Amino acid sequence: MSAPLLRRRFASARLVEALSDTPVVLIHGPRQCGKTTLARTVGEVRGYAYHNLDDFVVLASAMADPAGFVANLPERVILDQVQRAPGLFTALKSEVNRRRTPGRFLLTGSANVLLRPTLADSLAGRMGILRLHPLAQCELAGRAPSFLAALFAGRFKTRAYVRLGARLVERVVAGGYPAALVRAAPRRRASWYRDYVEALVQRDVRDLARISSLDVLPRLLAFAAAQTARLMNVSDLAGPFHLSRPTIRDYLTLLERVFLLDVLPPWHSNRLSRLVKAPKVHVGDSGVACALLGLDAEALRQDRSTFGFLLETFVFQERRRQASWHEKEIRFHHFRDRDDAEVDILLERGANEVAGVEVKAGSTITLADFRGLRKLRDAAGERFSAGVVLGSAASIALVVVLARWARNRGSRWFSEPLQTGVVVCTIGQCIVVPDLILGDFCTVVVASWLPEDVGFGRFLLTTLAYGAMRIVVAFVTGFVLREFFWPKGTEGPAPERSE
Ligand SMILES: Nc1ncnc2c1ncn2[C@@H]1O[C@H](COP(=O)(O)OP(=O)(O)OP(=O)(O)O)[C@@H](O)[C@H]1O
Ligand SMILES: [Mg+2]
Repeated sequence: MSAPLLRRRFASARLVEALSDTPVVLIHGPRQCGKTTLARTVGEVRGYAYHNLDDFVVLASAMADPAGFVANLPERVILDQVQRAPGLFTALKSEVNRRRTPGRFLLTGSANVLLRPTLADSLAGRMGILRLHPLAQCELAGRAPSFLAALFAGRFKTRAYVRLGARLVERVVAGGYPAALVRAAPRRRASWYRDYVEALVQRDVRDLARISSLDVLPRLLAFAAAQTARLMNVSDLAGPFHLSRPTIRDYLTLLERVFLLDVLPPWHSNRLSRLVKAPKVHVGDSGVACALLGLDAEALRQDRSTFGFLLETFVFQERRRQASWHEKEIRFHHFRDRDDAEVDILLERGANEVAGVEVKAGSTITLADFRGLRKLRDAAGERFSAGVVLGSAASIALVVVLARWARNRGSRWFSEPLQTGVVVCTIGQCIVVPDLILGDFCTVVVASWLPEDVGFGRFLLTTLAYGAMRIVVAFVTGFVLREFFWPKGTEGPAPERSE
């Protein structure tokens, strides 16, 4: 059998960079996302030896005498699955204090050390952490993405993109785990995901905590999958399990520690006091979520409302995957106020840049879809870079197109003639929607360009102006064709003259 094709991991450049100036570098991320493959691909050409703590003999020796184990390691070494021997962190710290050479230890871990501060603290200042995710859509496509750079620059290129259409649902269901994606049949992929969750709970969660009823966890995760992209309500989640809220909270933290679940915190602003403070919950991968919910592509096509939530999770995870190798740190939040104006994904870069992404699975994008983004723009003020509505819509309401045009007459409209158009973008690549009004051009509609509200007068005026402009263009084109290109003397036979 031939070896499976290895996809290029965009995080590898960050890894090489970290190894050049930090004594200990940890790659952490969920089981089976590709940590070992990445560590070995980068490490082996640089002469790193390899030890795997999943190997019982290696683990026993590391547990019995961590200091002796570390002292006997070669100059540069990969320690795989380091979370299995937490005692090693202190031994590594002493070794690094003794000799601080960049890139000495390359660690991998399948549990989030940042959620166990004692571990991370022991190597504070000495350890660089790289978060690895399952494959991003842009890694599957083999193309470096530009979405985040464009978002913070507030500038999207207008060009023709291929619309994913019905294939978008298939991508949501397929998820990003390489070992699932090599299976051709969707049914076989779903079974990989279900076995994955079961094995992870039985093996890794058991290592992390002694809990009496392990079988609750896959069911709790399935229940959380049904709530994905919604505000987290621990009481609702506790309901079917007859367990106390603190116990459910602990279980959710465990699922977070093994990267099966993400909690997206709310955003705070001094300018707005009426913000909802509950976090949102997202399953770590849309493929896992669909498998746990028993949804295949056909079922998801029928159930548009569930698709909406899963699409939001899919977009959120894709953006996080892209952010993991972005040159600056990006923090993720959600935004919702008590009037239910919301922005699904709020991205903060450094102290001064805020951007919003709203995900829409509906068939038409309307001005109302920009309501939350406009509130965010007002709350963020100068810090606001851009707001984008991403969706799978096949059309966009005329009023959105006109609103943007009305706003940009004289500047963007004329410098980019006929490039105003439709929105729509997904994941790693934008999709085009042939715009029935303006021809087949496409762009992303950016909320910062939209006016507060488009009154009826302005709407009517822009419609009339637009109609008039089309007539003038048609007239001028016709005139030019007739005068300069139409062969003379081909107007047909001259009318017969009656003598
Ligand atoms: N870049 C890649 N392209 C394609 N397949 C990959 C890639 N990286 C990993 N895989 C495949 O994914 C599977 C898991 O990879 P790997 O063992 O590196 O993950 P891991 O995160 O170390 O898993 P674990 O936590 O269980 O040790 C393997 O079958 C591997 O071949
Ligand atoms: Mg591994």
